[in-house]
Amino acid sequence: MARKKLMAANWKMYKTPQQAQEFLRAFLPMVDGHDRDEIAICPSFVCLPAVAEALAGNYIGIGAQNLHWEKEGAYTGEVSAAMLKAVGCTHVIIGHSERRQYFGETDDTVNRKLQAALAAGLAPIVCVGEVLQEREASLTEQVLRRQCQRALSSISGDEARMLVIAYEPVWAIGTGKTATPQIAAEAHLVIRAEAAQALGKVAADNMRILYGGSVKPENAKALMSESEIDGALVGGASLDPKSFAAIVKY
Ligand code: PGA
Repeated sequence: MARKKLMAANWKMYKTPQQAQEFLRAFLPMVDGHDRDEIAICPSFVCLPAVAEALAGNYIGIGAQNLHWEKEGAYTGEVSAAMLKAVGCTHVIIGHSERRQYFGETDDTVNRKLQAALAAGLAPIVCVGEVLQEREASLTEQVLRRQCQRALSSISGDEARMLVIAYEPVWAIGTGKTATPQIAAEAHLVIRAEAAQALGKVAADNMRILYGGSVKPENAKALMSESEIDGALVGGASLDPKSFAAIVKY
């Protein structure tokens, strides 16, 4: 069975609640009736209620960009899975390379966050990907295998039904450089093989693997035509309603 693609917007640290609602006022009519793919919007924490309100009654998913693995406690500045659910979240991005690079996220914290998200019924979008030096040193496969193995440790195929992985080569994020569809497809095969080891073949075959890194209206069609690419995680080009709608409708 073909996997339905997921087109997710990662707004990073952009947009106030008002700007988020302005975006959706323009965006929603552009994708009205579009049911070929799933769509999700991942704004900052403070925009989640405004986005949930604007999307009420809509099929579009709402994702946070991070979460903490504990249910509650003395963790200043952190947000739990239950809190995300309470404001209407359906998805959560975990282990984005910017969090790994600037905020000390590790393969181990990714695993703990993934377990918390799955236990709460949030669809996790776990990000993996190599940096430029690793690609140049031919370490891509090794890095992807390690990231997937550790992220998926102690998770069963049954638990992983909602799991999505995003392959985001770090050298392609926000740089304008995109992996070719072939480079992405090769990486996706490595990720799927590793997921099959950890979760079993059925779960791995059903799991969506998104590509992220400078996805734009101009390159979306070529990327999305690869059968191994099950959608996109879009940063910069998702901030403008026209451009994100063009990507969704590639
Ligand atoms: P980009 O970001 O589309 O701006 O490269 C993608 C991401 O970081 O998720």
